[in-house]
Amino acid sequence: ITPPCHLPPTDPPSTPSDPPPTPTVACWCASYPNVTLCSWPEPAGSPPTRYVATYSERRTQLLTRPCRLIRPGSASSDLVPAPWASSQKLWRCQLPDLKLLTDYVLNVTAVSSAGSSSHLSSFMLEDIVKPDPPVEVRVSLPDSRNLLVEWSPPPTWTNLDIFPLKYLIRYRWEDRGSLKSVNLGPFENTRKQLKGLASGRTYLFQVCAMELLGLGACSSWSSPVEHSIPKAGPLRLPHTS
Ligand SMILES: *[C@@H]1O[C@H](CO)[C@@H](O)[C@H](O)[C@H]1NC(C)=O
Ligand SMILES: *[C@@H]1O[C@H](CO)[C@@H](O)[C@H](O)[C@H]1NC(C)=O
Repeated sequence: ITPPCHLPPTDPPSTPSDPPPTPTVACWCASYPNVTLCSWPEPAGSPPTRYVATYSERRTQLLTRPCRLIRPGSASSDLVPAPWASSQKLWRCQLPDLKLLTDYVLNVTAVSSAGSSSHLSSFMLEDIVKPDPPVEVRVSLPDSRNLLVEWSPPPTWTNLDIFPLKYLIRYRWEDRGSLKSVNLGPFENTRKQLKGLASGRTYLFQVCAMELLGLGACSSWSSPVEHSIPKAGPLRLPHTS
C-alpha cells in the first residue's frame, strides 16, 4: 500500500491577509462656507491599494457624492494645509457645495486585496469651521509704555466681508524656568495695544483666528514672534559738575 501522496505545502500568500486599518479622518472648513477638506494619514508599511471617499446628507442617504481625492504630496496651488503637523503622508479630499446647517455622513474606505475598512463619521459644516492662522504678525514698541501687536487675517478665509473673524492673542515668557502664558481677546480689530509688560523680559506673541459668531474652533496659533522689552534706562541724575 503506497502512502497517500502529500502535496507540497503551498507558500503563504504574499499579500497581507488582514484588511487595511480603518482610516483616521479629520475634517475642517478653512473658509466658511466654501472650502471643506477631510484628511487622513496613509499607514506606513503596506498602504491600502486605494481609497474611496464619499459623502451624503444624513437624512437622505440615497444621494452619495464622491469626495474629491487629493494624493499625498500632490502640488495644488489652492490646497489648504492641514491644521496639524504630521510627518506621515496625508491623503485629503475636498467636499464642494456643502449646504449650511445640514448633517452629513462621510465614508472613507481603505481598500486592499485582503478586504476593506470604512471610517464613517457625521458632521455639520458649522461645527468643523477652523480658519488658518493669521499671517504677518508684527510686534512693535511705539513708545516705552505700550507694545503694539498687529496681524493680517488668514488669506485663505475668502468671505471676510460676509463672515468676519475675531482674534485671540497669546503671549508667553519664561519665568525662573517655567513658562507663563496670558491669553487676551477676542478682538475684532487686527491690532492691539498691550500695557504692563515687564521691561527687560522677552515675550513670544501668537494670534489665532475664529469665526466672529464662534462657529467651530480657533485656528492653530500663528508661529511665535519674539520681542524683548528694553530694560528701563538708568536713572538720570541732574548734571552737577
Ligand atoms: C462660495 O459658494 C457660494 C455658493 O456656492 C458661491 O456663490 C460663492 O461664489 C463661493 N465663494 C467663493 C469665494 O468661492
Ligand atoms: C462605505 O463605502 C464603501 C465603498 O464605497 C461601501 O462599500 C460601504 O458600503 C459604505 N458604507 C456605508 C455604511 O455606506
